Amino acid sequence: MNRKEFLSDCGKMGVAGVALSLFPWLESCSEKAKQEVQGEKVRIGIIGTGSRGLFHIKHLVQMPNVEVVALCDNYRPHLEDAAQYYPKAKQYDDYRRLLENKDVKGVIIATPLYLHAPMTIAAMEAGKRVFCEKSMAFTMDEALEVYNRRKELNGVLFIGQQRLFDPKYIKAMQMIHEGAIGEVVGVRNYWYRNNDWRREVPSPELERHINWRLYSDYSRGLMTELACHQLQNGSWAMGQLPERVMGAGSLVHWKADGRDVYDTVSAIFTYPNGVNMTFESIISNKHFGMGEQILGTKGTIDLVTAMHYTDEPAPKGSGMHQLIEQIERGVMSNSVFAGTSWAAESSSLAPGKPIMQNVKVVSGESSVGAEADGSKELLEAFLHSVVTGKQPEKVLEESYYATQFALLADKAMHENQILYLDDKYKVPYVPMKMK
Ligand SMILES: NC(=O)c1ccc[n+]([C@@H]2O[C@H](COP(=O)([O-])OP(=O)(O)OC[C@H]3O[C@@H](n4cnc5c(N)ncnc54)[C@H](O)[C@@H]3O)[C@@H](O)[C@H]2O)c1
Repeated sequence: MNRKEFLSDCGKMGVAGVALSLFPWLESCSEKAKQEVQGEKVRIGIIGTGSRGLFHIKHLVQMPNVEVVALCDNYRPHLEDAAQYYPKAKQYDDYRRLLENKDVKGVIIATPLYLHAPMTIAAMEAGKRVFCEKSMAFTMDEALEVYNRRKELNGVLFIGQQRLFDPKYIKAMQMIHEGAIGEVVGVRNYWYRNNDWRREVPSPELERHINWRLYSDYSRGLMTELACHQLQNGSWAMGQLPERVMGAGSLVHWKADGRDVYDTVSAIFTYPNGVNMTFESIISNKHFGMGEQILGTKGTIDLVTAMHYTDEPAPKGSGMHQLIEQIERGVMSNSVFAGTSWAAESSSLAPGKPIMQNVKVVSGESSVGAEADGSKELLEAFLHSVVTGKQPEKVLEESYYATQFALLADKAMHENQILYLDDKYKVPYVPMKMK
């Protein structure tokens, strides 16, 4: 495929002029790639038909080339919900039986985190092409095992990190790599909510089955549920991986309901060039919602709202030069020379420009996922690979490191230490750099 062809195809996703060298996994979203699989019926099975599994089903029913032939869930009401969309699909309560079904070519796994690695490995060993929801695994060793097993089997594995296919992130990252905000000097991520993060439980013995994300036997809480989506931002913007992480987590508000994962976390990831990326999440105050911002010497890109802000005027000269300029512009009180020496710096009033049109901004409270957030494109790319058997470049490595750093930060919080990623967990990572 030549570059021009690719660009026009990406235009259909709403992203014009992106560089394939930066986003190699998007190749399967192109019109040409779609033609490659035209007329093929993709037969898939779904393991875990809860909230996210149903979200995928709602996309799949709109795709004429897909047939869901098998459904599995060990909680009957969820299996029945899914069966309403695919009444002819075979139903299972044991995923191993689904994996024996020869009609199933690809599987989507949307079960609790602690099941991701064993289910993914079993599915790949059964010869299925696999899409597993994020995070990739419950432990760092398991994530590595899944990564290596995929390689040994030459299998197909996608992880549910849909930002990699979200047009606004793709456009923003391209702009950042082209220098739109100058040198990247900071990355801020936060995700605030104000709710108990609970699902309704019909009877008490189902508490841990339904509310698995609140218990450390099954989940690593906010780090694996939320942070893993945002942690790829720094690496993607700078083309390098963090070197170390420190963090603090606590149960601040939801102390008395039996959960044992933190409801409040803060982590700082430091890159080899000294840049810090922060992640913060609090689930008892939602004022600031969800934010992901790349800060550069010449401006800022807000990834969630797809806005580009310029630092105006561009900083120049010495500190004194800048101070005089600020006084002249009335930004700071000139009383610095006599009396009060400080005034609060409010955020910039620069209006900013949208980086693309028609961006839908949604509340960060949805645990299922927003519309038009790349989830559908990610699913389509997976379905393409189910037919071709091709593992797109880098799509797994991005997800792998998002999981490893989410887990490393969680460990740093529990051990109250600054941690470096052990060499044994390092897999080849080709930095994203503009050619
Ligand atoms: N990519 C995203 O934006 C996004 C959004 C939401 C959830 N997720 C991920 O999707 C996964 C599922 O989350 P959810 O909110 O749908 O949870 P959920 O609890 O609603 O669904 C999980 C389903 O798995 C079933 N299950 C549990 N154990 C099973 C077993 N042994 N065999 C078969 N089925 C079993 C449960 O009965 C349930 O129906 C999680 O990893 C979560 O992080 C991703």
